[in-house]
Amino acid sequence: MRIDILTLFPQMFDGPLSESIIRRAREAGLVKIYTHDIRQFSTDKHKRVDDYQFGGGAGMVMMVEPIAAAIESLTAERHYDQIIYMSPDGQTLNQKTANTLSLCENIILLCGHYKGIDQRVRDHYITSEISIGDYVLTGGELAACVVVDSVVRLIPGAISDEESALSDTFQDDLLAAPIYTRPAEFRGWRVPDILLSGHEANIEKWREEQAYERTRLLRPDLYAKIKGKAKE
Ligand code: ADE
Repeated sequence: MRIDILTLFPQMFDGPLSESIIRRAREAGLVKIYTHDIRQFSTDKHKRVDDYQFGGGAGMVMMVEPIAAAIESLTAERHYDQIIYMSPDGQTLNQKTANTLSLCENIILLCGHYKGIDQRVRDHYITSEISIGDYVLTGGELAACVVVDSVVRLIPGAISDEESALSDTFQDDLLAAPIYTRPAEFRGWRVPDILLSGHEANIEKWREEQAYERTRLLRPDLYAKIKGKAKE
């Protein structure tokens, strides 16, 4: 998979995308991630990338030309499955979207700043818009990091034990069951006996019950969707 990120602040990606699972996935060649500075595509002598809004109003708008040039420099080289604009107006990111994106070969993530981007970019280049929640960030960069993180860990081989991605919270609209490691007792707080029993079938059943119960208590909205599947 290849991910191209268009941004005014490429350095914001240095930390989040060069540690842990993402770093290993990149080193293993499972994903190639490139950041591109939109400013490099400005033909203005001062490398301007934003301007005042037509019609008046507070806040600068990212101009169509440099963004169009940046996108076209990429699409001239290869086909992109999706050209995504990170925006609070978009569809809220969920596990299903992350799953879908993890199956793509090439995607572009466009990060906006200031007031946003010229509408013509959205009309003529963008194939979908993703939000990471109902709040406004200073730009799309942190949101793009969230998308990349949620997607890359799903690429087969990115997580050593593939089981682990499959049993994630949300993978089947359920929260995950509680997990424990050694010691079996800490300050009198004991790990549930069932997990120490070695009885695999009972453990599996307990985990499933816990997942349903946690979802019911903590995420009634998700529980309503899966209620039909719940085991009595
Ligand atoms: N850009 C600004 N706010 C955002 C959000 N909530 N999600 C995605 N991109 C954004």
